[in-house]
Amino acid sequence: MDFEKVVKNRFSIRSFKEDKVSDQIIIGLLNLAIRAPSAGNIQSWEFIIIKNRETIEKLAKAALNQMFITQCSHLIVACANQELSSKIYGKRGWDLYSIQDVSAAIMILLLGITNAELGACWVGAFNENEVRKILKIPDGIKPVALIPIGIPTGIEKSGPTRKKLEMKLHFETY
Ligand SMILES: Cc1cc2nc3c(=O)[nH]c(=O)nc-3n(C[C@H](O)[C@H](O)[C@H](O)COP(=O)(O)O)c2cc1C
Repeated sequence: MDFEKVVKNRFSIRSFKEDKVSDQIIIGLLNLAIRAPSAGNIQSWEFIIIKNRETIEKLAKAALNQMFITQCSHLIVACANQELSSKIYGKRGWDLYSIQDVSAAIMILLLGITNAELGACWVGAFNENEVRKILKIPDGIKPVALIPIGIPTGIEKSGPTRKKLEMKLHFETY
């Protein structure tokens, strides 16, 4: 697929087949995701791969009962390593760069997933404390997104439309 096609074909998938994706494919996609830019090349991202069905069910409940998540093959929890980024960049590293670093990696991951003809959804609505508890995430590491990945059932044909670029475009000053 060329780049334009990958970008246009990416939309959130919330319905997955029962078939599983190979671990190798997931690791390959994460290896592309870590090509993302990061502040000072600190790479303040961490990824937790979850296949255990009970853990995934608990996480779906912690994600405000978004139970579609339980259909996924692999669930990746993308985290910001705030501790690491703040060592170099202080508060800006903690509050902003670490989140931007992992978000950049997530975006590559999502495009890679589309390119591999798989599906995923960026899930940001979750109870952070519950997710921390379930996954034993230490202080200084912030879970940013749950990313259920799987083979799309195909019932979802496209995502929502976008506002026109002109509505978001400013020239010279805001
Ligand atoms: C920060 C963030 C949080 C999101 N949280 C959720 C979520 O909790 N559940 C969900 O189903 N989709 C979630 N989404 C996906 C958006 O709903 C989706 O990207 C948006 O509606 C555009 O649709 P598309 O991804 O199909 O193009 C989230 C996306 C982002 C970037």
